Amino acid sequence: FSSSRAMAGAIKHVTVIGGGLMGSGIAQVSAAAGQKVCLVETNDKLLEGANSRIHESLKRVAKKVYKEKPAEGDKFVEQTMSRISGATDASEAVKNTDLVVEAIVENMAIKQKLFATLDAVAPKHTIFASNTSSLSITEIASQCQRKDRFGGLHFFNPVPVMKLLEVVRTNDTSDDTFKKMMEWGQEVGKTCITCKDTPGFVVNRLLVPMLAEAVRMLERGDASPRDIDTAMKLGAGHPMGPIELADYVGHDTTKFILDGWHEKMPENPLFNPLDTLNKLVSEGKLGMKTGEGFYSYKKK
Ligand code: 3HC
Repeated sequence: FSSSRAMAGAIKHVTVIGGGLMGSGIAQVSAAAGQKVCLVETNDKLLEGANSRIHESLKRVAKKVYKEKPAEGDKFVEQTMSRISGATDASEAVKNTDLVVEAIVENMAIKQKLFATLDAVAPKHTIFASNTSSLSITEIASQCQRKDRFGGLHFFNPVPVMKLLEVVRTNDTSDDTFKKMMEWGQEVGKTCITCKDTPGFVVNRLLVPMLAEAVRMLERGDASPRDIDTAMKLGAGHPMGPIELADYVGHDTTKFILDGWHEKMPENPLFNPLDTLNKLVSEGKLGMKTGEGFYSYKKK
C-alpha cells in the first residue's frame, strides 16, 4: 500500500469508467497504491454507491493490514479515499489521465462508442484498457486511432482480494504500452500474467466451461449442489465450489459469456446454452447479488 511504489511508474493518474463491483474495486486498489483516481459513473447516485462500496471494502482491508494499529488503518482509509474523485462526464475526466480502465456493461457497441469518443479528447500518451471478461479487445479498440496504446486489464472479483491481473496484448499493442500496463499492474499490487486476445483470456476460458459442466452435472442429477461444491473445495482445493462460484459471479454474466462464445464457436459443445441458467436469469435469480441463485442468500 505504499504510495512510493506507484510513483515509480509512468502511470500516475487513472480514470476508471464504471463504478460497479469491478470498477469500484479497480479504483480502490489503484488509489490504495498511491495513484490519483477519477471514477466515472452516469449519475451522482451511482457514484455515491461506488464510494460507499469502496469505503466499506477499505475498512475490511485496513482491519486486516493494520490489525494492531487501528489509527494507522483509519489514516490509510482516509488517505486512499482522498485520492479518489468522482465524475459523470467521461470526456472531461480523461483530459489529464495516463490510463483509462473501462469496466462498463459488456456490450460491444457501447464500449466501442465510448472509446471512440474518448480517443478524440484524451491526451496522446494515454493508454486505453478494457476490463472485459469475454469480449475481444481488438474489436473494442477497432474504432480508435490509438490501437498501439490499447490493451486488456482483466481483474477478478473481489478485486481487492484476488491477486491476479491478466494483461492482454492485441497484435497492435506496442511494447511500450505493454510494459507500462505490466508495471502499473504490479504497482497496484497484482501478480500479472500476460496472454493473447483470445476468448476468455486464461482464467475465464478455463473457469466458465467448468461452471457450465457443474451445472450440466446438476441437470443430469449426478450430484447435489452441496456435494459438487464440497467435492471441488476438498478434492481440488478451490476456495469456492463451482455452484457457489456461479452464484458469486452472477448467472447473467456467465450466460452472457457462454451465449457470446456459442454464437462465435457453435461447434464447441463446452459453450452450449444451459436451460437451467437461462431459467434462473429469466426469473431474475442471478445469484448472490439478487439474494437467490442455486442457493438462497436471503437473510432469515
Ligand atoms: N473487500 C475487501 N476485503 C474482502 C472483500 C472485499 N470485497 N471480500 C472479502 N474480503 C476479505 C475479507 O475481509 C477476509 O479477510 P480476512 O482474511 O482478514 O478475514 C478475506 O477476504 C476472506 O473473506 P471471507 O472471510 O469473507 O470469506 P472467504 O474466506 O470465503 O473468502 C473469497 C471469500 C475471497 C471471495 C473466497 O471465497 C474466494 O477466493 N472465492 C473465489 C473467488 C473467485 O474465484 N473469483 C474469481 C471469479 S471470476 C471473475 O471475477 C472473472 C470475471 O470476469 C467473471
